[in-house]
Amino acid sequence: MKFSGNINSKFPKMGTTIFSVMSALAKEHNAINLSQGFPEFQPHPLVIAAFEKAIKSGNHQYAPMPGLLSLREVIAEKVNDLYSLAVNPESEITITAGATQAIFTAITSLLKEKDEVIVFAPAYDSYTPAIELVGATPVYYSMVAPDFSIDWGKVAKLVSHKTKMIIINSPHNPSAKVFSQDDILQLEKIVKGTDIIILSDEVYEHIVFDEKKHLSVLKNKALADRSIAVFSFGKTYHTTGWKIGYVIAPENITAEYRKVHQYNVFSVSTSSQIAYADILKHQDLYLELSSFYQAKRDYFQAALKSTRFKLLPCEGTYFQLVSYNGISDLNDKEFAKWLTREKGVASIPISVFYPNHDEGKVIRFCFAKENETLKRAAEWLSKI
Ligand SMILES: Cc1ncc(COP(=O)(O)O)c(C=O)c1O
Repeated sequence: MKFSGNINSKFPKMGTTIFSVMSALAKEHNAINLSQGFPEFQPHPLVIAAFEKAIKSGNHQYAPMPGLLSLREVIAEKVNDLYSLAVNPESEITITAGATQAIFTAITSLLKEKDEVIVFAPAYDSYTPAIELVGATPVYYSMVAPDFSIDWGKVAKLVSHKTKMIIINSPHNPSAKVFSQDDILQLEKIVKGTDIIILSDEVYEHIVFDEKKHLSVLKNKALADRSIAVFSFGKTYHTTGWKIGYVIAPENITAEYRKVHQYNVFSVSTSSQIAYADILKHQDLYLELSSFYQAKRDYFQAALKSTRFKLLPCEGTYFQLVSYNGISDLNDKEFAKWLTREKGVASIPISVFYPNHDEGKVIRFCFAKENETLKRAAEWLSKI
């Protein structure tokens, strides 16, 4: 079939995402796929049992628009336990179809044409298209390898009367950087007295290493009062395919968010929500996640010691950045493709997370994989 009319494309230059490209290339060349960020493991048996029970519970119709209250109530308890913040489950929590939909809805419901949004690059790929769809402008602050530190004085200079939102992401994909208390305090200082809303992407809240703590915006009263915080169950329970997450925001921000949410998805999978309401009661499942992934990180890092790649710091998430400086002169996109085709290991070049960034020789590996897979990948990488 082919439409013979003129399509007024919203994104005339946009192609397929690098994640699909690299996964397809990995499949074609039978490569070990350390590119896309999804766990290789099965969910915990308690997670499967909760879903089975939910499916048999007889509830197969629409959930309420903001989500099942029973789930929102356990989320409120969790937030109180972890971040010492009392949130109202009725008016400040909304269940979403994963974090991607939450981010899209947050951006489209809170921004208008010509508004500016400060985005820290490298940035997760869904932020910019949503900003551009509403005719707003992303204003980038570039964080650079190896430490991706932020000079908040320079960030302050990017703020104008048009700035309506700052998007932060900690633990950060792809840099694996975790915000410090100083980062949070500097951010608080910059937005004080403004109308700027913080969109805080915290999908890796439970994957933080070396005794560091995840500093949610919800833990800081001044920021919590102006933030829309986004979470994803998929990252926490090895269930990325269930696509359920949630947003927490003050009542007046939530009201605006829901005006779009109700026409965007209306409500999300009832069975999954019933299951998560049950699963969340097992606190150990999320409290033990950091040590589970820290062991994976340590295993992968030790295995990579036998290669010529240089490891960058990894403070959180399930991503390890490596530099191939001294190994190849190819740019990172070409190198990642070469590595997949010729050496059988798929990765993601980090330039794709920047608006314009061709220098630097850094690629990202996902280590949410079985040790056997990580060992095999390191063996193949050691042959370079
Ligand atoms: C930083 C970041 N935000 C959001 C998401 C999307 O999460 P979800 O799968 O719940 O849509 C991801 C997934 O990789 C991510 O890395």
